[in-house]
Amino acid sequence: MGIQNRVALITGSASGIGKQTARRMAEAGATVVINDIALEIVEKTVAEFKSDGLSAIGMVADISKKAAVDQMIQETANELGGIDILVNNAGMERAGALRKLTEADWDITINVNLKGAFLCSQAAHNFMVDKKHGRIINIASRAWLGGAGQAPYSSAKAGMVGLTRTLALELGAKGITANCIAPGLIETPLWYELPEKNRNFLMSKQPTGRLGHVDDIANAVIFLASDEASFITGQVLYICGGRSLFSG
Ligand SMILES: NC(=O)c1ccc[n+]([C@@H]2O[C@H](COP(=O)([O-])OP(=O)(O)OC[C@H]3O[C@@H](n4cnc5c(N)ncnc54)[C@H](O)[C@@H]3O)[C@@H](O)[C@H]2O)c1
Repeated sequence: MGIQNRVALITGSASGIGKQTARRMAEAGATVVINDIALEIVEKTVAEFKSDGLSAIGMVADISKKAAVDQMIQETANELGGIDILVNNAGMERAGALRKLTEADWDITINVNLKGAFLCSQAAHNFMVDKKHGRIINIASRAWLGGAGQAPYSSAKAGMVGLTRTLALELGAKGITANCIAPGLIETPLWYELPEKNRNFLMSKQPTGRLGHVDDIANAVIFLASDEASFITGQVLYICGGRSLFSG
């Protein structure tokens, strides 16, 4: 798939979906930028990739802070000559019933998931415009459709869908596409932190009867990032084993 020699920055890529996506992109010939919030995990991930012969550099930044994002993007461009692919993957969730959620729960969830994607897209797109080529892929969630106990997260992810559609309209003529992936239940460490009762309930609602794998997301990111996907923009791709087909 055509991502050879591209520079791809994947936020939150020292863990889970982002890490596997970065690995697969590097295996496909891209130079990847591992971003995360803590130095230790970024260094560990970059060392792992390099020991496997993959091309990677690390950038520590809290993507919810504009100054940190601007610095990360500028340093990436200085070191690697630009940015071709941005995967806005970093995310987190503060869940709870409406009456129990705090202002801080709302702020951090919106700031990391939504504001982070905005700040990174804003800073990175300048370098894409220069090359008349770019790919922005936002990792939202099926939860953007709504989820009980998920007011901040669902709102943030719904905002990412609006952001994606807007970026597609605004940047399309400049050779930049923007698309959104909406994963369902993906097998990451987070899944195993849920109580068994909750896991059983969620599994009972999976039409395909299985969890998604991080590669299910990585495969789609690589396709959307490729030269072959140049006419696809502003779309939401559900990767959820059919769970988005019904509500509740
Ligand atoms: N795992 C799932 O089932 C699932 C389902 C739907 C959507 N998603 C979305 O996929 C993305 C990746 O999720 P995951 O399951 O791999 O989670 P994860 O916790 O394994 O990885 C997220 C990474 O983001 C980093 N991060 C958090 N805040 C950050 C910040 N401010 N700046 C930089 N990095 C930050 C974390 O340190 C972590 O390494 C998230 O956006 C999540 O909302 C996941």
